[in-house]
Amino acid sequence: MEIPFEFQRKIVGCFREEGERWLASLPEKVAHYAELWELTIQGPVSNLSYNYVLFVEDALGQPFILKLGVPNFDCRNEMDTVGQYDGNGCAKLVKADREAGVMLLERVLPGTMLSEREDEEAVIRIFLTTWKAIRRELPTDRKIPMITDWAVSLTQYAAGQSNPAIPRDFIEKAEGYIKRSMDHPQHHALLHGDLHHENILYSEERGWLAIDPKGVGGDPCFDLVSFMINHVMNKPDPRAVLTYRVNRISEELELDKIRLLKAAVGLSTLYACWALEDQSDWQDTYQCAIWFNELLEESMNLSIL
Ligand SMILES: Nc1ncnc2c1ncn2[C@@H]1O[C@H](COP(=O)(O)OP(=O)(O)O)[C@@H](O)[C@H]1O
Ligand SMILES: [Mg+2]
Repeated sequence: MEIPFEFQRKIVGCFREEGERWLASLPEKVAHYAELWELTIQGPVSNLSYNYVLFVEDALGQPFILKLGVPNFDCRNEMDTVGQYDGNGCAKLVKADREAGVMLLERVLPGTMLSEREDEEAVIRIFLTTWKAIRRELPTDRKIPMITDWAVSLTQYAAGQSNPAIPRDFIEKAEGYIKRSMDHPQHHALLHGDLHHENILYSEERGWLAIDPKGVGGDPCFDLVSFMINHVMNKPDPRAVLTYRVNRISEELELDKIRLLKAAVGLSTLYACWALEDQSDWQDTYQCAIWFNELLEESMNLSIL
């Protein structure tokens, strides 16, 4: 069974000994669920990150996805969130072993990722259709983290560094925007938590579908941020692309631009801190946060005039 080295490095970097134990258990686990659920394993997807995701077929030759995660709260929360979407706007959960961190999912076919589409305007429209299809109220039958629980990483980052790569006042500003979003409980809803181009796939049968939700509560504006900062730096004029996304999204959703930009500064700074913790690429994300902040200052100045 193929477990790419780069994937193993990421898992150990993130989960340490627990990750090593989980990696060692993977071949046996995959074999166990293949037998239990009568699956033929076809092989891992090419873009593994923090979960082992395999193309499989059932006994009738029907295609599915087998997804194995380090069994922890986040993994169970993902399963419960996919379950809450119940196949509407999101690939369906077919079977799950919650405690083992194993899911059998509807395979989205052909599964073209939104990142494979070029036309920025068309991409924004598809993104917004998917975003709208997965708006849900906060669950009442289970506890999910709120966006402010996530923001604790900002406080911890600032406290743990004598000379932080991201200036302390910027971190405090980002933290403030996330915290103050909680002053409007009427906005609070279930958020996907990671709705970007690679988590939106095309189904010939069902149209564009989300996959891979994190499940977090807060202002739905936060669910617009991972899309806005994704695939920006490879464009000839990245700041213009970011500005275009902010403008088009706030127009289409008739959303107050200041509210959107505060969420964008808050969450993109948090993503940059997570990347710093993971020792992965954080500079591009932080650059987006700086641009969001500039756009926010421009919008706030205009609103005073
Ligand atoms: N239900 C699915 N149908 C088709 N392809 C999928 C499905 N789920 C995942 N994939 C493929 O596997 C990749 C990684 O899966 P994902 O659930 O996003 O894992 P991670 O949590 O590691 O990001 C996706 O970007 C996509 O290419
Ligand atoms: Mg993903």
